Amino acid sequence: MADAALKTSAAGDVAIRIEGLNKWYGEFHVLKNIDLQVAKGERIVICGPSGSGKSTLIRCINRLEQHQQGRIVVNGVELTDNLKNIDTIRSDVGMVFQHFNLFPHLSVLDNCTLAPIWVKKQPRAQAEATARRFLERVRIGEQAHKYPGQLSGGQQQRVAIARALCMNPSIMLFDEPTSALDPEMVKEVLDTMIDLAREGMTMLCVTHEMGFARAVADRVIFMDAGEIVEQNTPEAFFGNPQSERGRQFLSQILDR
Ligand SMILES: Nc1ncnc2c1ncn2[C@@H]1O[C@H](COP(=O)(O)OP(=O)(O)OP(=O)(O)O)[C@@H](O)[C@H]1O
Ligand SMILES: [Mg+2]
Repeated sequence: MADAALKTSAAGDVAIRIEGLNKWYGEFHVLKNIDLQVAKGERIVICGPSGSGKSTLIRCINRLEQHQQGRIVVNGVELTDNLKNIDTIRSDVGMVFQHFNLFPHLSVLDNCTLAPIWVKKQPRAQAEATARRFLERVRIGEQAHKYPGQLSGGQQQRVAIARALCMNPSIMLFDEPTSALDPEMVKEVLDTMIDLAREGMTMLCVTHEMGFARAVADRVIFMDAGEIVEQNTPEAFFGNPQSERGRQFLSQILDR
């Protein structure tokens, strides 16, 4: 069950504050007046139909996409064109993608140590010790010497999670981390994410995994056509969506 009710956040406890966010791709208005405040330690699941802007929204949070209007403030630092701010935010926000995005020509260990060595300037021995610790934590320590192509999809995704954790982020963004996996590998990745949630990580996950949402999410955000249409506890949203669009969406994913 999700912990308690929705968390309200005092100023110092805010991890992410998004106010009046608008974004266009050329003429196409992809994000419309998004307001979202995420408390430290809060776990949010974002769902909605294909093309509704879920990936775009979370990619704006670490500036993989640029917004044109509104404010995004992460741990008190505002995302603007200021490169120092962008670096500060990126070093505090880890991201896991649908297709893992591991470097195929680097071993699992080197995938995990690359950014700590080159971006954080950590000595190699320290970066390797940290990487081994996180690889153990995602239960894949024995694969450190292998290349990504020698691992299953679920194992590769756990490496991608360990790689993000090696940068010691306080916020993790997940963009459909299990949707490219064979069904039998989904659970191992979700279990890793559930462990992370229980340890208090602030998480935003784009996923349609209702079991995961019910187990860990404090809040489900439902998006459609670039807007946040409704948000509620998983029990309330999945049990009794308030909007017609929410009801339609749920009937579709339940039908699959
Ligand atoms: N780089 C881009 N240039 C132009 N349009 C884009 C670009 N990236 C995304 N879009 C469009 O913006 C809309 C939102 O895309 P986005 O990837 O955020 O949706 P999504 O909710 O993540 O969808 P899915 O569930 O399929 O991943 C879509 O209509 C998409 O075609
Ligand atoms: Mg997407």
